[in-house]
Amino acid sequence: MDTEQIGSRAADFFKQLKIKDILKSLRVRFFIIVFVTGVVSCLVLHTMILDSYEARAVSVRSTEVQTQLRILANHLIMYNYLQDTSSDVINAELDMLANLYDGRVMVINDDLKVVKDTYNISQGKTIISEEVVNCLKKGSKGTISKYDNANGYIEMITPIIESQVIEEGDVSIVGDSNEVVRGVLLTSVSTDTIETTLSVLSTRAKNMEMIIILVILVFAVVVSYALLKPFDRITAAINDVKAGYTDQPIIGPNYYETEQIINAFNSLLRRMKVLDDSRQEFVSNVSHELKTPITSIKVLADSLITQENIPAEVYKDFMTDIVAEIDREDKIINDLLALVKMDKKASGLNITSVDVVALTENVLKRLRPIARKKNVELTLESNRAINAEIDEVKISLVIMNLVENAIKYNKDDGWVRVELDADHQFFTVKVADSGMGIPEESLDHIYERFYRVDKSRSREIGGTGLGLSIARNAVIMHRGTIEAESVLGEGTTFTIKIPLMCGNTKTN
Ligand SMILES: Nc1ncnc2c1ncn2[C@@H]1O[C@H](COP(=O)(O)OP(=O)(O)OP(=O)(O)O)[C@@H](O)[C@H]1O
Ligand SMILES: [Mg+2]
Repeated sequence: MDTEQIGSRAADFFKQLKIKDILKSLRVRFFIIVFVTGVVSCLVLHTMILDSYEARAVSVRSTEVQTQLRILANHLIMYNYLQDTSSDVINAELDMLANLYDGRVMVINDDLKVVKDTYNISQGKTIISEEVVNCLKKGSKGTISKYDNANGYIEMITPIIESQVIEEGDVSIVGDSNEVVRGVLLTSVSTDTIETTLSVLSTRAKNMEMIIILVILVFAVVVSYALLKPFDRITAAINDVKAGYTDQPIIGPNYYETEQIINAFNSLLRRMKVLDDSRQEFVSNVSHELKTPITSIKVLADSLITQENIPAEVYKDFMTDIVAEIDREDKIINDLLALVKMDKKASGLNITSVDVVALTENVLKRLRPIARKKNVELTLESNRAINAEIDEVKISLVIMNLVENAIKYNKDDGWVRVELDADHQFFTVKVADSGMGIPEESLDHIYERFYRVDKSRSREIGGTGLGLSIARNAVIMHRGTIEAESVLGEGTTFTIKIPLMCGNTKTN
């Protein structure tokens, strides 16, 4: 594949991807979460560190200048500078301070007049700043400092305090009566150096951040890819199963969560396999059963064709056998259809109010001819009238199958007793016979499709092994139960128990 092809394929791929689909991906979400968390914490850290550096630097600078100002204020008192500004020492000291901190110092007396300004601008003017007035009038023992970060300076107001001297005149008396505020030092100090350091730090931090963000990006990609890899494995394994490459259970080192998915999927797979096996078995049983009569018909027909001058009686005999085989085939097909119909839950029940005693009598009437053939005595016992909300056709089928079996698998001159009973919730039909009985190990299997205790004998009798399976399905559809008890050689009793009101539990 050349690069052009790869390019056009990639373009197609991205065209198909929609933003909504992309955001739906767990991997993309995971990536976004890791990446955003990383970047946000990085940025927060950046801002916090720079802010705290700034606050700390400003506070250090303020304390440093304040100490100097306090010393200066003492000197001003000592040299009586407020009255006489000619002192070279103080002037030099003021200039030095102003230069050192790249700032401006104004000395203000208690008349709010500026006696000295290191910028030489405001000398002689009156200052009416609220802070200055407050500092003078109310008095303040400490320096007030204010940081103006927009313009890059710290403003400080330091009282010039004279101690122990009580003079006459209009002066403010502050706190202890021997401390008097004589004036104020109004200083502003540039914070340019702090800002320069800040901008240097910020640039460095930004460079570092770029690297860290790149690392986080790579990390987020790797983590989101690696952590969600088990899900890819599951999808691939499920696709393999779907495509039919394998029916092996999925395995793999995984997380607890993916293990849950795998377990659920594996049990689904097992269930599907069971269903598939039983379907295959059913199909092979069906074909086998359907083939048997056809094989017989073919053998019979073949022998008629190959032989010449066959007497009419033999012809008739063979034809009768052929008709019997066709009837058998027809019965199997009808039974299978009944079974399939009942398997489909949607087919549901056709519930009506039914007189169960009359229904049973009707079934027995239809079976009497067969019973008579074997000289089996067929009796019905019922002590009360039973009316039930049931599907008449299906329950007839159930009773018919049970009684038919009881006659078929009976001995000559035996008996079959059908007992009906009911309480306020259920009615029961008991079909007891004096037949050959069912071996204990077969009792669990008699409801399986095509199961016959004695295959060769049953076929001789004419059974396909579908009757009980149909009966059980019909009983279950009515939310009833079916049970069998048997003593080998003595007889069998089937009991079905069906709710009187099936209409409430209709299955469709
Ligand atoms: N009353 C009974 N006494 C003895 N064996 C029985 C009795 N009922 C059923 N069986 C055994 O159970 C098997 C399954 O019965 P089922 O009614 O499902 O099939 P079948 O009678 O062989 O064929 P079908 O009813 O489909 O014509 C029978 O083949 C038979 O071996
Ligand atoms: Mg049967």
